[in-house]
Amino acid sequence: MTNYLIKGAKPLGGDAVDIFVADGRIAAVGDSLSATGAEVVEAAGLVALPGLVDLHTHLREPGREDAETVGTGSRAAALGGFTAVHAMANTDPVADTAGVVEQVWRLGQEAGLVDVVPVGAVTVGLAGERLAELGAMADSAARVRVFSDDGHCVSDPALMRRALEYVKAFDGVVAQHAEEPRLTVGAQMHEGDRSARLGLTGWPAAAEEAIIARDVLLAEHVGARLHVCHVSTAGSVEILRWAKSRGVQVTAEVTPHHLLLTDACAESYDPVFKVNPPLRTDADVEALRAGLADGTIDAVGTDHAPHAVEDKESEWAQARPGMLGLEQALSVVIETMVEPGRLDWAGVADRMSVRPAQIGRLGDHGRPIAPGEPANLVLVDPAARSTVDPAALASRSRNSPYAGRELPGRVVATFLRGTATVLDGKATR
Ligand code: DOR
Ligand code: ZN
Repeated sequence: MTNYLIKGAKPLGGDAVDIFVADGRIAAVGDSLSATGAEVVEAAGLVALPGLVDLHTHLREPGREDAETVGTGSRAAALGGFTAVHAMANTDPVADTAGVVEQVWRLGQEAGLVDVVPVGAVTVGLAGERLAELGAMADSAARVRVFSDDGHCVSDPALMRRALEYVKAFDGVVAQHAEEPRLTVGAQMHEGDRSARLGLTGWPAAAEEAIIARDVLLAEHVGARLHVCHVSTAGSVEILRWAKSRGVQVTAEVTPHHLLLTDACAESYDPVFKVNPPLRTDADVEALRAGLADGTIDAVGTDHAPHAVEDKESEWAQARPGMLGLEQALSVVIETMVEPGRLDWAGVADRMSVRPAQIGRLGDHGRPIAPGEPANLVLVDPAARSTVDPAALASRSRNSPYAGRELPGRVVATFLRGTATVLDGKATR
């Protein structure tokens, strides 16, 4: 295995140091290190962060390998600076058994670019009727700790309560896609002035907020861990702030697209901007940025949702919801949070690595950049800027909402347990 001497990187944006990576671990951090036989990585001006961790990635395998595979999605993740991604359960077949989660986990091991951590479905077939084999998935080789019916809400409160009780036994967490389905029948975009003007059926903020309010009360009652996926409204941030002040074990994520884009994008009728939950208003974007800055929102989760051309390039109403996220997530966070001074690099490490690793109970990720720690690292050039070209993405799909947009930041290198998965901005395998 190659050893690396990273010269002059700034851990969490602090003073420049050398980092010696040997045998999968950080062997030394200090000034003017030397290491015979090690490959030197010149990192002057680069920020070193712990490898990013995504709580919310759709890899589409098994079932929709035409949109993404564990292999192509892993490469997109590594290029985005990630060393671990949670693979959502809405595959075909659904990841609702030990067999399917082990299959996804094994495909991730074979690709070897990031740790692919399967999410287990909460209910059989995501149908919202019967609990899936949560214990068997937890005990499997994939060691599932995060359970989600994402794409669907666990809307039955009694079933949600039972899921929370069940996962508590093995320190698991239920990640809820908060959407009261009776309030979003036929919904196409955020419900507000714009939906009325465009003549598209609205998805009211209250449909998200009602479920979050209900679920934090259930989590408090049961004493279990709840995670809220892709929080999108100002009201949701307020409810989370209230719940945390009461000591409820609730965590939440926001997507890069909800930090940057608004429902104004729907004016184009370009289905690349159709997503669930929908893009919201300027006031919501502001509340999400504030919530991420003050820690009410714990993490950035990409909701990377690749879709094949025929599922996306159609009329708005027919198009599937979802957009790519892995390769631009860090750039969007730099643009919306770092450059405006709302989050420093330690904050980025916290919200994109440390906290998501804790929520997923991933012991090897989100660790300090210190001797003895597993060498899961990313080197970022914060000064670089580039224009997003969907054709150049590693994802098998092309539905990037950032096409043609200039964004800051470039991932120069990613290391997974000491192996360079990305070097000079290119995937190594
Ligand atoms: O926009 C979305 N796409 N939201 C979801 O909840 C599911 C996801 C998908 O699987 O495409
Ligand atoms: Zn979702």
